Amino acid sequence: MSDSRVAANLLAVAPLIAPSLLACDFAELREEIRRVEAGGARILHLDIMDGHFVPNLSIGIPVVEAVRRSTDLPLDVHLMISEPGRYIRRFREAGADLLTIHVEAAGDPRPLLEEIRSLGAGAGISLNPPTPVDSLEGCLDLCDLVLVMSVMPGFGGQEFDPAAPDKLRRLRELVGPDVLLSVDGGVNRDTAGICVEAGADMLVTGSALFSENDYGRFIKEVTALAKSRKVIRV
Ligand code: DX5
Ligand code: ZN
Repeated sequence: MSDSRVAANLLAVAPLIAPSLLACDFAELREEIRRVEAGGARILHLDIMDGHFVPNLSIGIPVVEAVRRSTDLPLDVHLMISEPGRYIRRFREAGADLLTIHVEAAGDPRPLLEEIRSLGAGAGISLNPPTPVDSLEGCLDLCDLVLVMSVMPGFGGQEFDPAAPDKLRRLRELVGPDVLLSVDGGVNRDTAGICVEAGADMLVTGSALFSENDYGRFIKEVTALAKSRKVIRV
């Protein structure tokens, strides 16, 4: 599947949960993927950390390739790395369907977003809690996805930033209905609803999901809650 079609297909079933594999049991990676897939997940979120842009290390290209071999679900690859342009092609070749770079790491994000699209993936931009929405204005026309960080990136299991819903609302106004608006960090049963009310289509969930025994139940219940809070925009 290529470029904006991935985002459009996901928008058609929004709001949806994007399980963040950062919180899964990596010793059982294939089984964890099978369990969220059987539980109704429509996409997987993969967190790439370089120990430089964020103060932590996580997974890299070989693990993205392994996930790609384990599932046909689209892969939403979140690059929390400096100089993302050096690695875009390799993550696309590893199997990323959506590739999100950080505006704080990108310099001029426009050529990078263009490159992601030219490689046939959906292009995403993300911003950290201290970064103002205005910083994205020069590149939103090249985005298939915008990812609002509701924690400082680098670690799972942090508290949701109460300022995130206002950012989601502003971004929804700026991008209109056809761009996938995602939120990442501290999303759980208590915070999912307010994110969707503020305009989020995609809820990245790590620890709240993987700490449950029954992933399918969590996905179904939080998706139902999210759908009940979705604001119909005309
Ligand atoms: C944080 C990552 C997140 C993380 C979310 O830097 O980008 O995707 O896995 O984890 P939770 O849902 O536990 O906040
Ligand atoms: Zn993430």
